[in-house]
Amino acid sequence: MVAYEKVHPEPKQRHRYFHYCCFLALLFTFITLYTFGLLALTKKQADDAEIAASAGKRLVCYYSSAGPAKLSLLDVPGNLCTHINIGIANLSNTTLEIPPDLAAVLQNETCLFREKNPQVKLLLWIGGGDSGHEFAEMVVNHETRKQFIRSVRDVLKQYPSLDGIDLDWEFPSACDKERQHFSQLLYEIRMEWIREKLPDNILSLAVAAPEGIAYFAYDMQQINLYVDYVNLMAYDFHFYRKDMPFTGLNAPLFARAKESSIMATFNINYTVNWWLKNGLEPQRLVVGLPTFGHSYTLVSPFNSRVGAPARGIGKCGEAGFTTLTATCECIKTFFAPNLYFDRQTCSPYLSAIMEWISYENAASISCKAHYIKAMNLGGIMVFSLNTDDLKNKCGYMGPRAHTPAFPLVETAKRILLPHY
Ligand SMILES: *[C@@H]1O[C@H](CO)[C@@H](O)[C@H](O)[C@H]1NC(C)=O
Ligand SMILES: *[C@@H]1O[C@H](CO)[C@@H](O)[C@H](O)[C@H]1NC(C)=O
Ligand SMILES: *[C@@H]1O[C@H](CO)[C@@H](O)[C@H](O)[C@H]1NC(C)=O
Ligand SMILES: *[C@@H]1O[C@H](CO)[C@@H](O)[C@H](O)[C@H]1NC(C)=O
Repeated sequence: MVAYEKVHPEPKQRHRYFHYCCFLALLFTFITLYTFGLLALTKKQADDAEIAASAGKRLVCYYSSAGPAKLSLLDVPGNLCTHINIGIANLSNTTLEIPPDLAAVLQNETCLFREKNPQVKLLLWIGGGDSGHEFAEMVVNHETRKQFIRSVRDVLKQYPSLDGIDLDWEFPSACDKERQHFSQLLYEIRMEWIREKLPDNILSLAVAAPEGIAYFAYDMQQINLYVDYVNLMAYDFHFYRKDMPFTGLNAPLFARAKESSIMATFNINYTVNWWLKNGLEPQRLVVGLPTFGHSYTLVSPFNSRVGAPARGIGKCGEAGFTTLTATCECIKTFFAPNLYFDRQTCSPYLSAIMEWISYENAASISCKAHYIKAMNLGGIMVFSLNTDDLKNKCGYMGPRAHTPAFPLVETAKRILLPHY
């Protein structure tokens, strides 16, 4: 969860970097293509054939071994997600650091899950919201990248139930050639796996949705060559910030009628189209949907619209971040809550005196999943299993449902993979 807009550079700055980046990107691409073109092409052809053969779409689910609501991997149904990113593994001084609770999951639960559900791919989720600095230091030269790749190799050997890694660098910046170095890392990881005869290992990325970040952070052509798919974090478009003290929707599907210029870019449809227009192969685009929400405190109980003045995060959730269970528990304790559904953006929100929450429900996930399916992309990512309505407090699963329950992830699955 990061402040996307904060990193948004001024338009003028963008143009200065543009020429500089262009030149370096061209040089880099030329050298890479010239030296390793053949290898890359073989990999790409094999990839394309594989993609054509499998009509299967991905449902990628994030799973955290930590977090307030402790969730066992073994409680995740084997027919829910096609891929599970298990984390979070930290980067520390260019090598992977596995926190104790994650080590426990990787040692025991991951093997048992794999035995029961061999069709589900399990990936190690590396990085996360606070890892930007560690990634920047790690990609900086060949030696540090090599240390990282060696540490990935050791961890994948130690936990053979893992099928690959998901790199969650938030985010490469326009500085210090981070984009080029990141692309170089992706290339080197792929080459290492070819050398080790592990062509089926999966390399995925969690990527920023807003163009103001993505423009500087990623080289689409290099991603097409070396990365299996990207998980587009198409959420956190709005949350409470001191410099933007207004309510807003976490993951609006489309721009709202009143939005213009940059505000009209903070939605799923705009960012999906931006990524496609900028050259990412559609089958590599996995669009992320949240199961969590964001809470706000209103300035006035008489203005509870989207875009109403807010003066802080809300009481619901932790630090303004709400799981679906927390949202439904809050609804029950709030005085006279009003529940709304904004049809234009496929997004529910609620207000109760001074409290305001943007969240997801079965209707919004259904609507957004239908959009992604109709776009014929690489699939849906969900962030996260942990923040779905594990306790079935919203009642989507009926009164006698087993818990933990995953009503939103189930909804996405029913639409994207009805026969999985
Ligand atoms: C590792 O990640 C966890 C969870 O994101 C964080 O609390 C912790 O501070 C990190 N440790 C290091 C050494 O970066
Ligand atoms: C980081 O790793 C390098 C090489 O393994 C080592 O020489 C250095 O002392 C480490 N730095 C820290 C701060 O641990
Ligand atoms: C994994 O399971 C074994 C045997 O069931 C147990 O002894 C061990 O403590 C577990 N490891 C962790 C890290 O939980
Ligand atoms: C979706 O995005 C595309 C490209 O930006 C745009 O042309 C189209 O009007 C958008 N759709 C809606 C319903 O806003």
